Amino acid sequence: MREVIYFSYTGTSEKIARVISSHLNCRMGQIKPIRNRSYPEWLILSFIPGLGVKVVHEGIEGHEIILCFPKWTFNCPPVTSFIKSGNLKGRRVFMIVACGGWRPESYTVRYAGLIEKHGGHVVGWRIVKKKHVDAVLESNELFEEVKNAFSTVKGD
Ligand SMILES: Cc1cc2nc3c(=O)[nH]c(=O)nc-3n(C[C@H](O)[C@H](O)[C@H](O)COP(=O)(O)O)c2cc1C
Repeated sequence: MREVIYFSYTGTSEKIARVISSHLNCRMGQIKPIRNRSYPEWLILSFIPGLGVKVVHEGIEGHEIILCFPKWTFNCPPVTSFIKSGNLKGRRVFMIVACGGWRPESYTVRYAGLIEKHGGHVVGWRIVKKKHVDAVLESNELFEEVKNAFSTVKGD
């Protein structure tokens, strides 16, 4: 079963998650930090690599996970916690990273490593700049990319 899991602070990743889950007809779940923080607080925490915060989320049923989350400096603590807690263990994961545009590649590669370290298997990723979100979601390309990633990397 396929499932979309997202964390979003300003709504971009949530928008991507909603459109993907409706397009692929799959369940959607949210990662929520227990404590809401202001932008300056998150910004400070985002500079600390590997830091987590307490989060809640619904039980994950899917074995193919589309994980949508934002690019935050060096670290997005709610997502880091979610991964470090072993929620993606044994699951195949496609990451969609929303960003403003500043150095998203190395960040995404680091998250792929973190997922693998905690037992998940990354089948692919896509970085989406906030200003391109609507155009990306209007075309079929991203949905096809997700489907292809899951169908071509089976069994390892
Ligand atoms: C704390 C914080 C740090 C951010 N750091 C970066 C960054 O380093 N590079 C970048 O391109 N965008 C950065 N952004 C912008 C977000 O990645 C971008 O606005 C994204 O679309 C937000 O996704 P969301 O609406 O799902 O939260 C940052 C945003 C926040 C709140």
